[in-house]
Amino acid sequence: MPESRVFVTRVVPDAGLEKIHAASEAEVWEGEKPPSYEALLEKIVGLDGLVCLLTDQIDRELMDAAGGSLRVISQMAVGFDNIDVAAATERGIPVGNTPGVLTDTTADFAFTLLMAAARRVVEGERYVKDGKWVTWGPTLLMGQDIHRATLGLVGLGRIGKGMARRARGFGMRVIFSDPTVDEAEAKGLGAEPSELDDLLGESDFVSLHVPLTPETKHMIGKREFKLMKPSAILINTARGAAVDPSALYQALKEGEIAYAALDVTEPEPISVDDPLLTLANCLIVPHIASSSLATRSRMATMAAENLEAGLNGEELPHCVNPEVYKSGLARS
Ligand code: DGY
Repeated sequence: MPESRVFVTRVVPDAGLEKIHAASEAEVWEGEKPPSYEALLEKIVGLDGLVCLLTDQIDRELMDAAGGSLRVISQMAVGFDNIDVAAATERGIPVGNTPGVLTDTTADFAFTLLMAAARRVVEGERYVKDGKWVTWGPTLLMGQDIHRATLGLVGLGRIGKGMARRARGFGMRVIFSDPTVDEAEAKGLGAEPSELDDLLGESDFVSLHVPLTPETKHMIGKREFKLMKPSAILINTARGAAVDPSALYQALKEGEIAYAALDVTEPEPISVDDPLLTLANCLIVPHIASSSLATRSRMATMAAENLEAGLNGEELPHCVNPEVYKSGLARS
């Protein structure tokens, strides 16, 4: 039987790449930037499997361009808002993702952003490198305390819970807004449920942990910033589009909130001309919350395992559309 044909949309860590090559005849896109949509349309023709990233737009037109051969889409990420999952299900294509393995790494980083913003670490570093440090200053770069402050978690999934656990170590009060959550488990974490508007009004730190859906797109906008404390700090490690960027700019500029620390932006990458980059009270890093060597290697391995299962006609270990099996639609 000929080897399965696979396209991998970027060079992923070796641990995953080795498994992908062992399981298939794989072509890997070597560019630092993702393949264009047009390039993907060409590459996908006749493929058995696709390993993709959150930077690739995987829609119905692309799936159809495969010509009916595509048996698995394996995304190296937990989020999959770039994939039209309903279209994949209609076509009997299972879609894999990499949940769980990046939870603690991402929560570590969200907490890092919280601390860096509260204590103005990046401004301090710039101050020193710009040669402005002339003496110890009694009011120099005064920030905010983290201990005993209130942390509002918008979304209490795996990463939100990871934040709650970290916050307890700092003696923080933790409140959360998430209609889907098991309250007993939240209680075990010392987190109190709250309506979103109340959470925004009470929190010193608001950290977003929601997937991007039509309901969460721009869920933090003009109205929500007006509800927040002028001293509030917003942390976003979820998806950039959960926040309305022009409302965020206004809120930071007008002092409706004090600071934002963002791992994710809308769009990505953020343009170098974006007004948010002109603000000293906005810290932005390039979507690296899950980027530890161990975690990215494990994500690539999981993506390879999902791919291999799909190519072998087996259920994916981590499948976002398991209904594809129940309906008996899955291609083999
Ligand atoms: C994910 O896996 O969805 C993350 O955003 C990648 O860091």
